[in-house]
Amino acid sequence: MPDVTVTRRLQFNAAHRVHNPALSDEENSRLFGKCNNPNWHGHNYTLDVSVHGPVDQRTGYVVDLAVLKRVVEERVVDKIDHRNFNLDVDFMRGVIPTSENIIVAIWRELAPAIQPGRLARLVLWETPNNYVEYTGE
Ligand code: NI
Repeated sequence: MPDVTVTRRLQFNAAHRVHNPALSDEENSRLFGKCNNPNWHGHNYTLDVSVHGPVDQRTGYVVDLAVLKRVVEERVVDKIDHRNFNLDVDFMRGVIPTSENIIVAIWRELAPAIQPGRLARLVLWETPNNYVEYTGE
């Protein structure tokens, strides 16, 4: 059977402060700009979850996207939507909540739960102009 990559898009919003406690306030402000605002700020994030695998002969699917959506909601989105990355999210504890660190943390939560197929790629949009992608390497 041919292998195909399928993608489900999900949206959530969350607050954060990008801040490294090991650096001075001036350095944090210079490095992180608006995202260093002491009283938090939010983003409307978009997350694309791609799964790669063989097309099942019986269903014609790689994976049922409704099932994939439920798994992503349970493992990730329900834990971060309308939350604060710095304060509320167990799998982000002690991590500076840049998009880079968020996407790696989401991968670790999600990859073991994906089947059939395998998690092939995540794309996380923080704004309509900025996104990061990760393939688990
Ligand atoms: Ni920000």
